[in-house]
This record gives sequence, structure tokens and C-alpha cells, in this order.
Amino acid sequence: MILLGIETSCDETAAAVVDDARTIRAQRLLSQLDDHAPYGGVVPEIAARAHLEHLDILVAGAMADAGLGFADLDGVAATAGPGLIGGVLVGTLTAKAICAVHDLPFVAVNHLEAHALTARLTDDVAFPYLLLLVSGGHCQLLAVEGVGRHRRLGGTVDDALGEAFDKVGKMLGLGHPGGPAVERAAMSGDPERFDLPRPMIGRPGCDFSFSGLKTAVRQAVEKRPPGPLDPTDVADLCAAFQAAAGDVLVDRCRHALALFGRPGPLVVAGGVAANTYLRARLDSLDVPMIAPPIALCTDNAAMIAWAGLERLRLGLTDGLDFRARPRWPLDEDRRPEVPPAPTDEL
Ligand code: KG4
Ligand code: ZN
Repeated sequence: MILLGIETSCDETAAAVVDDARTIRAQRLLSQLDDHAPYGGVVPEIAARAHLEHLDILVAGAMADAGLGFADLDGVAATAGPGLIGGVLVGTLTAKAICAVHDLPFVAVNHLEAHALTARLTDDVAFPYLLLLVSGGHCQLLAVEGVGRHRRLGGTVDDALGEAFDKVGKMLGLGHPGGPAVERAAMSGDPERFDLPRPMIGRPGCDFSFSGLKTAVRQAVEKRPPGPLDPTDVADLCAAFQAAAGDVLVDRCRHALALFGRPGPLVVAGGVAANTYLRARLDSLDVPMIAPPIALCTDNAAMIAWAGLERLRLGLTDGLDFRARPRWPLDEDRRPEVPPAPTDEL
């Protein structure tokens, strides 16, 4: 079985071809980072236009790299939500058009489920497993019991961890996205110099809260002498922030493991899972931990193709009338009870 996967839900335009032997046959990805950098964050309108401009070329490139024609595929999968709706429409409409022309099954993939299933592409992981999903838009702990079967154990009550990394990066003048820059700066920093809070630690359950931690970084910045921060301040604040985030993740995952009721495995996914320090902290929990290679933790199309493949081999395909969903919680039934608002989509 061979699938083409398409990812366009945020600021990465990507196409990949993956087979059921877990081989990524081709993968093309174009980051829009430079397009959004002047604005300090992702601008949905710019993202949608950039996806539209580049997706066809990336799809053609991935197919050529794989040495395949569309007729050789068993299906096409695209992120159908959650995400920025303009981009999601570009991706789903492209996938649907290919399916319509070549009479292929279409699979509407939940972007979060794709992050959740990536570990099954890269490693031999059987259901059930505990998933820590930490990205720019999401921060949650889930029991993954099967394809399309997730039990939410806890989540953030305010900011996602990646969002907190991005905001801290921005206030320290490190640009966007903040995550990788904060991690880099933290390497030479002293995590003890600034005393930052560890929100939620010790509380029952496994919810997260990061907005107080982010505010504490802002207050620490404001207490510094006026003018630009010196590199030591920046490094020490990054190290303190990252250490606090690490303590929180370890505590919340420990609670989640108790709720999960099994000794792991713990799978980490989402862009923040690319953070080597946080991976090492989570590895200190006494359970097997699986973290996909960094390039497959951040947004990519191989994970979409793989999630599509997992669904397709269970016969879970979608009609060409499937509506893109800007919001799509992972533990919600795929079909909402309340009909979504009409869109112009096919
Ligand atoms: O999963 P992802 O690529 O996109 C979604 O949000 O769905 O995650 C992007 C997020 C951004 O907030 C980015 O700052 C964060 O992941 N991130 C990191 C690192 N690399 C990416 N956060 C901390 N450390 C990193 N090395
Ligand atoms: Zn993502």
C-alpha cells in the first residue's frame, strides 16, 4: 500500500510518499518561516497563499522522487484539521482533486492524530501507549488505544508549551519560532539564577498551565536594567524557563502514567518534542520512552501519509464532501453532532 500525504495546516507546505513497509519513499517540505518572520508569528492569509503557490510543485516533486505516477497510489491523505482554515482548504482540495481524477480513496487526517501515530511509522509501537503531544497549538496527554481511539487524560488550561516557548523567544528578542532558539540559548545558561514558578506541579490529574511561567519570564525581563538584555541574561532566562518546563512535564507525565495504569510506553510527539533537553528529562521517567526523529516531530507530510495509511488499511476513508475542520479535538468523534457551518468547499 502506498499513499501520498499532504500537510498544509500551519506554516509548512509538505508532500510525502509512504508505504506500508514503513518506508518514506519521498518527502518534500517547504517552510514559510521567512515569509512570516517580519510579523513575529504565522499570518494565516500569507500562509494560505504560500501553500497555494507551492503545493502543486511539492506534490509533483515528491511523486517524481518516489518514481511513481498517481495511478500507482492506493490513496491520498491530507490534513483536514485542526489548523488555519485557508491552508487546510488548499491541502484538502488538492488531495480531493487528485482522488477525483485518478479514482483514488481520500483520507481526511486529523493533524493531531498524525503526530500521535508517527511513532508507529518510526518505531515498533503497539497500542495502547501514553502520548505527550506538545506543539505550538497543543499540549495534552492522551491514552492512544487504537487508530481513531484516544482518551484525553489532561491538557493545558491556557497556553500550549510551544506557544510559551515562542512567546519567551519573542520577549527575549530571539525571533520566531522561539522553541529552537530558546533551546540553543539555554545550552550556555545557568538554570538556577532566575527562580521561576512550576505551575500545576503536585496537583492531582495531569493538566498543564504555562501562562504564569511565561508571565514570570516577562517580569524577570522587566526587572533587568533598561536597554537590551545581555547575552548572559538571555541564556540564563532560557535555561531557567526550560528547566521549569522540564519539571512540569516530568510531574504531569508521572501523574498521567498513574492514570494510564500501565508502565508506558510514553510516546512524545509535536514540535516541542524536538527539544533534546526535554527529551532527556522525560527519559528519566522509569518507563520506555519513544520520541520520533526530530524532523518527524515537527510538522511534515510523512506523518500525514502514515496516518492516512493506518486509516486506509482499516477501511476508514472519507468522502470528497468531507469538510475541513479548523477545530478538531482528538478525543472527539470524527463526525460532529452539530453540523459545521457551510463553507465553499467541494
Ligand atoms: O508540531 P509543530 O511543528 O506545529 C504545530 O504547532 O502543530 O510545532 C511547532 C512548535 C513551535 O511552537 C516551536 O517553537 C516548537 O514547536 N519547537 C520547539 C523546538 N522546536 C520546535 N520547542 C522547544 N524546543 C525545540 N527545539
Ligand atoms: Zn503539528
